[in-house]
Amino acid sequence: MEFSTKTIHFNQPSDPTTGAVVSPIYQTTTYQQEGPGENMGFDYSRTNNPTRKRLEGVLAELEGATHCAVFGSGLAAEHAILQAYLKPGTEIIVPQDVYGGTFRMLHKVFEPIGCTVTDVDFADLEAVNRAVTRQTQLVWLESPTNPRLLVYDIKAIAKIAHAHGALVVVDNTFATPYFQQPLDLGADLALHSVTKYLAGHSDLIQGAVIARDAAVFEPVGFLQNALGGVPSAFDCWLTLRGLKTLELRMERHAVNAQRIAEALEAHPRVKRVYFPGLSSHPGHAMAKAQMTGFGGMVSFELDGTPEEASAFVSNRKYFALGESLGGVRALVCLPCKMTHAAIPAKTRHALGLSDTLIRLSPGIEGTKDLIGDLIGGLDALGARTAPGEEALASSI
Ligand SMILES: Cc1ncc(COP(=O)(O)O)c(C=O)c1O
Repeated sequence: MEFSTKTIHFNQPSDPTTGAVVSPIYQTTTYQQEGPGENMGFDYSRTNNPTRKRLEGVLAELEGATHCAVFGSGLAAEHAILQAYLKPGTEIIVPQDVYGGTFRMLHKVFEPIGCTVTDVDFADLEAVNRAVTRQTQLVWLESPTNPRLLVYDIKAIAKIAHAHGALVVVDNTFATPYFQQPLDLGADLALHSVTKYLAGHSDLIQGAVIARDAAVFEPVGFLQNALGGVPSAFDCWLTLRGLKTLELRMERHAVNAQRIAEALEAHPRVKRVYFPGLSSHPGHAMAKAQMTGFGGMVSFELDGTPEEASAFVSNRKYFALGESLGGVRALVCLPCKMTHAAIPAKTRHALGLSDTLIRLSPGIEGTKDLIGDLIGGLDALGARTAPGEEALASSI
């Protein structure tokens, strides 16, 4: 089955009792039993639910896997993995620019109970090799990263991790299984903030953990029920609905992102554009090698002041200023004050996350409208005032 056929047909037969071509929402807490402990495979909806099970089957298939557990958020999914594998006295290795919420969970929840969190520049494979020790349980990465869209060599990193007996988790939220298959590249677990492209319409919060190996998946599957962070049947149904257009949406997101990145790169008020589809991007060759498309996200550094960056993101016609990404409607954010505010300013700046870095999540709107909105906003800023002239201008 091809990708788009899977998103529509896999695990989603017409309803045998009514012929409904769309799977019903099993909005139920519990299931009538024929005798004590005798049921039809479902006993309580935290433990299992037919709508959720359907979604888990589709997500596993899209990642070329067999096991999936969905959660009430991407962070709940991350929590289940960390709770399963990161014990006091053990270590996790993460790239320096991991998603802010992951950074917060590691440093504020797992470090205080005795876990070691080591951050490394994942572009430097020697450094990754030096960092992994016998205590390392997990090597965790995003690729492309949030928000600079750096691309890491998943295959090489998995090889290093496995040589030391560590498991590899790839947060595949930005690429989606449509553009990247981390389990094929050697990862043990694929993680998603389903909230983003998979659900795709900015109308729910959800996460997923996917694996091929039953033994690797088992502790995470156990914690889905034991910790209880499950999504509602309705949200699972919404994701099933969103997935049906994943291929079409990703194709459009990617075209919009590529054209926007090219237009921004040519603008004098743009210092630097981060998009793996640009040949100027350091991860361009690696993205070409391990992805089938460059994704839909674009970040750029404004050549201007933090105040100008704030004003720019607050005044767009089509790009709504908001957290999140991956929806059909365009979004813009200022990571330093929003998604990455949990990272101390000093650390943020050391990572190259400047106060004028702007992250765009182009939706599936018309390309010209989106470009017009951005370029119009940049043009309106006028020519850059040289730093020395700012004081002069304000004193006039
Ligand atoms: C790359 C990445 N991973 C994980 C998460 C967390 O997902 P959620 O917001 O669904 O909890 C996010 C949220 O922005 C994210 O961008």
